[in-house]
Amino acid sequence: MSMIEVRDVSMRFNMAKERVDNLKEYFIKRVKGTLKFEEFYALTDVSLTVEKGDVYGLVGLNGSGKSTLLKIVAGVLKPSSGTAVVRGTIAPLIELGAGFDMDLTARENIYLNGAVLGLEPAFIDAKFDEIVDFSELRNFLDVPLKNYSSGMVARIAFAIATVTKPDILIADEILSVGDFLFQKKCEQRMRELMSGGTTVLIVSHSIDQIERLCNRVAWLDHGHIRMDGPVEEVCAAYKSLGQSAGEGAGA
Ligand SMILES: Nc1ncnc2c1ncn2[C@@H]1O[C@H](COP(=O)(O)OP(=O)(O)O)[C@@H](O)[C@H]1O
Ligand SMILES: [Mg+2]
Repeated sequence: MSMIEVRDVSMRFNMAKERVDNLKEYFIKRVKGTLKFEEFYALTDVSLTVEKGDVYGLVGLNGSGKSTLLKIVAGVLKPSSGTAVVRGTIAPLIELGAGFDMDLTARENIYLNGAVLGLEPAFIDAKFDEIVDFSELRNFLDVPLKNYSSGMVARIAFAIATVTKPDILIADEILSVGDFLFQKKCEQRMRELMSGGTTVLIVSHSIDQIERLCNRVAWLDHGHIRMDGPVEEVCAAYKSLGQSAGEGAGA
């Protein structure tokens, strides 16, 4: 059974062609109709299917469209054309801190972020200790989040998102934020979820991590799917890109 079905998705962004220095200039140009936009496709005709139980990895260079694709799957962005259908509950770990208020304490943010993810306060009460233990931040609970490092924020975000045993977990680079012990712990938690039937779609800069965790991989290149298939094949091809680039540079 497919859990995520992406069909012919394209995502177009309009980018201002000329530099507009201030808001007044922007509105004058807009009213006069002289503001020029350049269309830019972050994704072009992307299709992929994630089956139940897959741990699906997305690889590709910076700017290839990985985050844009995850946002479309999570429903944060609406594609310019095409469709993305998701079956089941989804825990998105996409923009770190998006569901947090940096002025509030960690304790308050656990409830706030839980609410953003649709969790009842009573449920969070029951799971509070589990979340705090997993994030290992008990001594910092009443400190505003703005004083946390990005790794600490990632711990809380991951702990909250995975406490629900979602049908689908989507994670964008989150596992590369914390220290190696935390990464190990996240991988362990992901394996638990996977053995409980959770389907995973992840972006990671670490090819090692993709090879350890994933069974299938799609390689995005300038917004196009360059290759998708079993993890060994796609990762081998992706890695050989680095080798040939290195050889080219040396020649
Ligand atoms: N909101 C946006 N407006 C304009 N361009 C964007 C926006 N979001 C992403 N892009 C552009 O789309 C391309 C793909 O970005 P992204 O999906 O973040 O790539 P990746 O995650 O693979 O590094 C990049 O060129 C980026 O600058
Ligand atoms: Mg990205």
